[in-house]
Amino acid sequence: MPEGKGRPERKGRMEGKVAIVTGAGSSGPGIGNGKAAAVLFAREGAKVLLADQVLARAEETLELIRQEGGEASAFEANVTSAEDCRRMVEAAVERYGRLDVLDNNVGISRRGTVVEVQEEDWDFVMAVNVKSIVLSSKFAIPKMMETGGGSIINISSIAGLRAHSSTPYTASKAAVIGLTMSMAADHGPDGIRVNCIAPGLIYSPMVAPRMDDDLREIRKSAAPLRTEGDSWDVGYAALYLASDESRWVNGITLPVDAGLTAISPVTYQTLGQQQFAQPI
Ligand SMILES: NC(=O)c1ccc[n+]([C@@H]2O[C@H](COP(=O)([O-])OP(=O)(O)OC[C@H]3O[C@@H](n4cnc5c(N)ncnc54)[C@H](O)[C@@H]3O)[C@@H](O)[C@H]2O)c1
Repeated sequence: MPEGKGRPERKGRMEGKVAIVTGAGSSGPGIGNGKAAAVLFAREGAKVLLADQVLARAEETLELIRQEGGEASAFEANVTSAEDCRRMVEAAVERYGRLDVLDNNVGISRRGTVVEVQEEDWDFVMAVNVKSIVLSSKFAIPKMMETGGGSIINISSIAGLRAHSSTPYTASKAAVIGLTMSMAADHGPDGIRVNCIAPGLIYSPMVAPRMDDDLREIRKSAAPLRTEGDSWDVGYAALYLASDESRWVNGITLPVDAGLTAISPVTYQTLGQQQFAQPI
């Protein structure tokens, strides 16, 4: 019988690891997905480079980590720029000596159907949500290979699995899922795992400005668990995929959505159990 050799000991789940989180700040007050992942990585012993195009936002996350006695530093980078991505990866290695984890968290949305969308908005969403992952990974992967491998986490959305309210966003988040599978296939032999998280209708600083209590209730009741998720739910999924606990998990897309994408809305919400009430 296997005796669990090579399994991580239960101390800090990220002890000895160096991580980069992109978009490590939050776009509004509170805890976003990048901020939550960065705090959890540091809490479990990782040294974390907090990259954000708004340095002050990364510094807010840094303050949270310092208050808990963790190790991190802030770095200003626009991850749609190849040069910024190169400098970001160099900074992590210079400051902490290696690179094990890259959490490609940055993402934005623009509205519109294909008829309505402005060409520059389409290009912008694709650059921020997709090209940024290509550029940051381009520079991170060779550094991870120097120490025998690593883990890359790409943040998609359930919008990449189902049509959502915004065509550019859905298309870009579906591209992130395809990119994840391709990267996992290409770099698995290098010991680099590449996985994806598809967050559902969570309540975070990114969506809070567009929410009132009624809308929050509707979103909450849409999924089988009927509870509201937040960025910590996404952060804990990232922590699992970043740690060696997921050492045999590669190329997946993990929905963190209270079961929303597991159901067929018409039968589940409109008919529910009624359809089975009569003997068949
Ligand atoms: N919040 C949700 O409800 C939800 C749901 C599904 C998926 N997601 C995905 O989660 C990810 C982000 O979540 P979050 O809560 O951390 O978002 P957020 O908007 O709170 O924070 C993201 C951070 O990214 C930074 N940023 C934006 N563009 C950047 C760029 N080009 N370079 C560097 N930094 C940049 C911003 O300054 C901000 O501090 C996105 O990929 C988003 O699509 C979010």
